Amino acid sequence: MAEEKKKRDGFGSKLGLIAAAAGSAIGLGNIYRFPCELGNNGGAAFLLIYLAVVIFLGIPVMLSELVIGRRSQCNSVGAFKRLAPKSGWPIVGYMGVLCGFLIFAFYSTVSGWTLEYIVKSVANSFQGKDIKALEQDFADFHNMGWRNVMWQGVFILLTGFVVFKGVQNGIEKYAKVLMPVLLVILIVLGVRSVTLPGAKEGLAFLFKPDFSKINGQVLISALGQGFFSLSLGMGVLITYGSYVKKDDNLTSTAFSVVLADTLIALLAGIVIFPAAFSFNVNADAGMGLVFNTIPMIFNQMTGGYVFCIIFFVLLAIAALTSTISLLEVVVAYISEELHIKRQWATVIACVATMMLGCFASLSLMDNTPFTIGGKTVFDALDFITANVMLPLGGIMIVIFVGWKLGKTKFFQEVTNDGAIKASLKKIIFFIIRYLAPVAIAIVFISGLIK
Ligand code: PHE
Repeated sequence: MAEEKKKRDGFGSKLGLIAAAAGSAIGLGNIYRFPCELGNNGGAAFLLIYLAVVIFLGIPVMLSELVIGRRSQCNSVGAFKRLAPKSGWPIVGYMGVLCGFLIFAFYSTVSGWTLEYIVKSVANSFQGKDIKALEQDFADFHNMGWRNVMWQGVFILLTGFVVFKGVQNGIEKYAKVLMPVLLVILIVLGVRSVTLPGAKEGLAFLFKPDFSKINGQVLISALGQGFFSLSLGMGVLITYGSYVKKDDNLTSTAFSVVLADTLIALLAGIVIFPAAFSFNVNADAGMGLVFNTIPMIFNQMTGGYVFCIIFFVLLAIAALTSTISLLEVVVAYISEELHIKRQWATVIACVATMMLGCFASLSLMDNTPFTIGGKTVFDALDFITANVMLPLGGIMIVIFVGWKLGKTKFFQEVTNDGAIKASLKKIIFFIIRYLAPVAIAIVFISGLIK
């Protein structure tokens, strides 16, 4: 057993797990998807439900995944095989691997846009443009299908490169330093945004809930967004948890990651909505909301040129630390369970992602043939993963920990075999065992009925 463990790569320091998990969580989900979902789902009412989801479900699900990962020291499929031999549980792991692959396929589309926007900002092509012109540029860019595919390919390659090199040399190093810088830049942007004329309305949209707007769709979108933003329900934190040894405090890791992720999402909201209302961009404008509003804020700022470049570079890096985690789940599975060398596993996974991913990119062109059931391939992948697969995965994970792994082993893990107190363990276990499965199920079903 000791020998076997030695062969596995792992994080080098205590900060490694938090940095990598926060790197996975913080990404386009916070800065791009969160404002989109909030705008499409009526504003502040969505925010309230979202906050309830991340606090009451996010922390317990995250902790469950970390416990499964660290206890098994295995990839997300192997983990269930080891902890529940000869059972059906590994299906949860397989579903997670599939889900990681599907998310990577459309997430890499938007990640590619960040590269296009770095180039645009260096070329100073936003300068002096009004919001209409920026919107037109964005639409034109979407219709250049192959340019989207090219950037997507570049991004997949970048991700592959880091994962290829392995956990310790790759993931950890990149995640540690850059997220705090992103935070600072968002604060600068936020200050500019809330001082724009007409910003108040945007803040009211974000913070003054209109409870009549809550319906099944709002509920399930908030649930899906919570899982998506925290990277839950598909094995990222099982995989990352498996790379740490006994002395990490899993509970405080979960709390820190949820806090950091939520803070960044809130800040993104404070940046986007006041500015969007000020520039007359509709809150439900969807994809363009972020990519048009942000350059427009920089246009109104001294030093905007430089800040804009830094912002898109950081956004690309935030996306990268998330795509790394998506790919890592797939690669850890292929290499450990199918016994294919890590390097080859990376190549296989990247090629497969590219093949599916290009349809996601091309499906955003006007009159695209690439639709599934009336949705673009992009939207279909987004919907099925975030709103269906992640909550389903989440429910299975809490049921596994609450009912199959059980209290004793859960307590052993969160207290590091009694070395630390983990004073919230009882209440968290209660949530894992009873509340979380019921709550996720209710929200999920209410969304389906709609
Ligand atoms: N949490 C990431 C983000 O917010 C996206 C992601 C989802 C990453 C699921 C891994 C797994 O951008």
